[in-house]
Amino acid sequence: MAKQLLINDLDKEGIATLAGYKAHGGYAALEKAVKMKPEEVVSEVQKSGLRGRGGAGFPTGMKWSFIAKPPGVPRYLVCNADESEPGTFKDRYLMQRKPHILIEGMIISSFALGANTSYIYIRGEMMYQFHILEKAIQEAYDAGYLGKNILGTGYDLDLYVHPGAGAYICGEETGLIESLEGKRGNPRIKPPFPAVKGVWQCPTVVNNVETLAAVVPIINMTGDEYAKIGIGRSTGTKLISASGHINKPGVYEIELGLPVEEFLYSDQYCGGIRNGKKLKAVVAGGSSVPILPGEKLLKTPKGEPRLMSYESLSEGGFGEGTMLGSGGFIVMDEDTSVVKNLWNFTRFYHHESCGQCSPCREGTGWMEKILHKFLDGHGTMADIDLLWDIQSKIDGRTICPLGDAASWPVASAIRHFRSEFEEYVKNGENMRDIQHYYRVNNLQPA
Ligand SMILES: Cc1cc2nc3c(=O)[nH]c(=O)nc-3n(C[C@H](O)[C@H](O)[C@H](O)COP(=O)(O)O)c2cc1C
Repeated sequence: MAKQLLINDLDKEGIATLAGYKAHGGYAALEKAVKMKPEEVVSEVQKSGLRGRGGAGFPTGMKWSFIAKPPGVPRYLVCNADESEPGTFKDRYLMQRKPHILIEGMIISSFALGANTSYIYIRGEMMYQFHILEKAIQEAYDAGYLGKNILGTGYDLDLYVHPGAGAYICGEETGLIESLEGKRGNPRIKPPFPAVKGVWQCPTVVNNVETLAAVVPIINMTGDEYAKIGIGRSTGTKLISASGHINKPGVYEIELGLPVEEFLYSDQYCGGIRNGKKLKAVVAGGSSVPILPGEKLLKTPKGEPRLMSYESLSEGGFGEGTMLGSGGFIVMDEDTSVVKNLWNFTRFYHHESCGQCSPCREGTGWMEKILHKFLDGHGTMADIDLLWDIQSKIDGRTICPLGDAASWPVASAIRHFRSEFEEYVKNGENMRDIQHYYRVNNLQPA
């Protein structure tokens, strides 16, 4: 049986309640952590090799060690529960089914960082999970896990859930901080990084839901034991949101290092491509990562089986590889139009761009319009090069990585599926269905 640390016991009765969670070992890690020194907790997380599960894969223990500690200045921990990346739905699943693992992880992490106030910033659309969290937090206060003098240690912590208003940009950590402070969610120019100036200009750590939940098994089993799970620098387990043309879409917890082929085809996970179709392409880590044709996804450029790990998925760089990202695994069968999918993603980035940086504000709109031209049967060969040119002028030229996220899918789609764009140019009139799409979805053209 594959190793599962986060969603192993979802079938247990009452696991979403404090009593049920405790009956299955919940809050044992907190009891253990508060007997340790905060720096020992940080050290366990460092030893575990845990990397941020929000997308960038930055080592969590290292991030925590960067937090500034000016005397008399409060520190904050913020949980990023904005989860707006297309194809990613693991955080809401965890919060809904097992809210106390996040709360326990946050109390331990806040203790380690010396934070006395922490926030869960949750995407505005996820009110169902918001209410579940509010209830679970109240249970934790009533049990003495939150509030004053937690477990008689003298340590105080208040935890708040703060709903956003449904903007993807508020998932970017500094946009999130601005929004939490009650302002428009425009990402900040860095440095200073949040570890030095975050919420209310005070030292802040922002971590993803899954990252903070993973702190619980790390403390329970020790960092060294956690580091033995997984492969190389990709330690531990990872939640994967699997969607698209597969037989068994859903949220899976995998041990990092699982062969991609096994994940895609075995009945334990995705169960193969729907309706016996062939695999065409996969977006392996949420909409922001490069799209890969099926054969490049399954094998590395050296011809070895590709693994579900940070390193293996990125082998071959942006030309031949992709990224694990947030673990949003979107599968496309042979009947899928990559151009149409790309238009849909690009429409999203255009809509969600905060508009601060011209390359992103203007470029995402231009790309959407050009892609719309292809779908409408009016694209030209020169448009393919123009699209390439625009994406190359967004990538790396914006305050936050939303611009990169918008450009990489375009670059990879042209790189791997140029012939499909050409087909739209040659055959455009026969392929136009975009007006229909607008009509049925009640959308306005860009
Ligand atoms: C446009 C944009 C949206 C993002 N959305 C999320 C999100 O919804 N959830 C998340 O955890 N990280 C998101 N991130 C990444 C965060 O900026 C940050 O890296 C992350 O919360 C750090 O947590 P981690 O170290 O635990 O991964 C986003 C980044 C960008 C650029």
